[in-house]
Amino acid sequence: MDKDTLILAIESSCDETAAAVVKNGREVLSNVISSQIALHTLYGGVVPEIASRKHIEKINQVIEEALKEAGVTLKDLDAIGVTYGPGLVGALLVGVAEAKAISYATKLPLVGVHHIEGHVSANYIEHKELEPPFMCLIVSGGHTHLVIVKEYGKYEIVGRTHDDAAGEAYDKVARAIGLGYPGGPKIDKLAKEGNPKAIAFPRAHIDGAPFDFSFSGVKSAVLNYINSCEMKQEEINRADVAASFQQAVVDVLVSKTIAAAKEYGLDQVAIAGGVASNSALRQAMTDACEKNNLKLFYPSPIYCTDNAAMIGAAAYYEYKNGARAGLDLNAVPNLKIGQR
Ligand code: KG4
Ligand code: ZN
Repeated sequence: MDKDTLILAIESSCDETAAAVVKNGREVLSNVISSQIALHTLYGGVVPEIASRKHIEKINQVIEEALKEAGVTLKDLDAIGVTYGPGLVGALLVGVAEAKAISYATKLPLVGVHHIEGHVSANYIEHKELEPPFMCLIVSGGHTHLVIVKEYGKYEIVGRTHDDAAGEAYDKVARAIGLGYPGGPKIDKLAKEGNPKAIAFPRAHIDGAPFDFSFSGVKSAVLNYINSCEMKQEEINRADVAASFQQAVVDVLVSKTIAAAKEYGLDQVAIAGGVASNSALRQAMTDACEKNNLKLFYPSPIYCTDNAAMIGAAAYYEYKNGARAGLDLNAVPNLKIGQR
């Protein structure tokens, strides 16, 4: 049997400072997350400068905790994995500089990880049987993509958003109905009390690009609906708005994912990213996959939103594929999927 591979993974692309120790890409020995959400809530969104400063303050502590919880020292590790893009440049740089410093001091190999490929790889952690190829819907605060995971670390994008990401639409609508940041989980909760059929918000389909998305239309429709209610001095039923908006988004996400899986002849579907923890999306995707004889995978909510365990999972397959970063590894804020 091969020797175990232990990776220390670091994630600091947005507002979570996170470190994890992952064994053989699928077994999480520790997963420490220091969230800055409370801090950014004061401003209604992530403030990049504050995020970077907070990462610097927390990163050593988070790494020490991750090693301690896993019961390992730096000497036991085989590699360091770190998110180097996409994300906020100042935030990414904190993790990248830290990973490079550890790699330099310990001579451990360094592996640069794409944040979104990390989200996809979160599915490997709890589903030991999941292997490529599969269709993956990635829905986060900054990204909405449909990708074919062809092999470990090999991706083909078949659909993308033309404007807002799904999570971004959730956050903007939440702000409009006074729910605050981050809006996704708040809309998820409030929608449970509302009628998803109360208001007919649009479902965007794009001519000639059946697997692409657009969420700016539904977002504008919600804002217009709120404005027109205010003008008519009608009271807004926020739960109905939340439920109807969510239904419009979920309908599109599910129908396109199923259609794409069928079109490309894939019988396994996975979802990933912060919005993948949405209860309505999980339920609707479960029902649709059952109906269409597709096998569905999704991570537990803690592995859907930003964390370093998913970075450790992705780093493992990169490491096995021979990927090594040098000490010149830099943060790439607009890194594309599959780009090296
Ligand atoms: O993946 P993530 O943690 O960070 C990015 O890489 O962007 O995703 C954050 C996004 C936010 O827009 C947040 O509102 C959304 O995921 N989100 C949700 C839920 N939990 C987080 N959206 C809908 N329902 C949820 N339960
Ligand atoms: Zn993310």
